[in-house]
Amino acid sequence: MTAPKHFLDLNDVSADTLRSILDLGVRLKAAQKLGKADRPLVGKTLAMIFEKPSTRTRVSFEVGMKQLGGDVVIMDGQGTQLGRGESVADTARVLSRYVDAIMIRTDDPQKLLDLAKYATVPVINGLTDDSHPCQLMADVMTFEEHQGPIKGKKVTWCGDGNNMAVSFVHAAQRFGFSLSLAVPKELPVPQKVLDWAAGEGADVTLTHDADEACKDANLIVTDCWVSMGDKDAEQRCEYLEPFQVDARRMALAHENAIFMHCLPAHRDEEVTTDVIDGSQSVIWDEVENRLHAQKGVLAWCMS
Ligand code: CP
Repeated sequence: MTAPKHFLDLNDVSADTLRSILDLGVRLKAAQKLGKADRPLVGKTLAMIFEKPSTRTRVSFEVGMKQLGGDVVIMDGQGTQLGRGESVADTARVLSRYVDAIMIRTDDPQKLLDLAKYATVPVINGLTDDSHPCQLMADVMTFEEHQGPIKGKKVTWCGDGNNMAVSFVHAAQRFGFSLSLAVPKELPVPQKVLDWAAGEGADVTLTHDADEACKDANLIVTDCWVSMGDKDAEQRCEYLEPFQVDARRMALAHENAIFMHCLPAHRDEEVTTDVIDGSQSVIWDEVENRLHAQKGVLAWCMS
């Protein structure tokens, strides 16, 4: 039996394959806009397990499957036997007999890995506390729609060294862009991720000076200061306040620089209202591209 084509992390998939998935997403988007949608997933079903809240991931995967001709089953982790202690391994074996792929959003990265280990169908990472690869596929697609090829461009991350920052590190290596990480020393990017980037020769630099990081950037990106499950909100805000993206910082960037945020956002916390709702912000294209980039992922996984 052929091994399932899992989409667990960007650094698990080759650069060439990621590029072909993005190209596929771009083609599927164009066909959809022309009213000539491909329906390669007729008769296929995606199970989606949510152990954390979601708006964009949930809706974009469901709409994406339906646009491709397939269907979905949505499972709230607590409403299933998984929530009552049935093992991830058995859940993987059960779902593999019913559906053609499984997407999971969970705080526990080990659950994603266990699901992939025991499932005989593809497993997709819909966010863990460690990474958010589907968001990065949408972000790269969005960047390239506005600015052309991302290879060789400068991307600046301002904020927490969280799951999004990790996936940006993976993406910098796989898509060949320069990444400047401006993160507080109290909320670092995991050292093993930085070591991986260094070992792979990725152009990733780390600073605690957000002004320095924003200079000449083609893209500035941030995330909310207090995410799902984060404790010590007040302390986190104190650490992250010097990393807020505002008009002065956008002015340090390249004159055509764009702003992105994976959302949900908290205006006038991690980003000022004038920036997120201003002319350099491409957040609504970024939102839409979750749908199209993930259609590329779904079609690749189940092809
Ligand atoms: N960006 C993102 O993953 O959004 P949701 O949490 O709404 O899915």
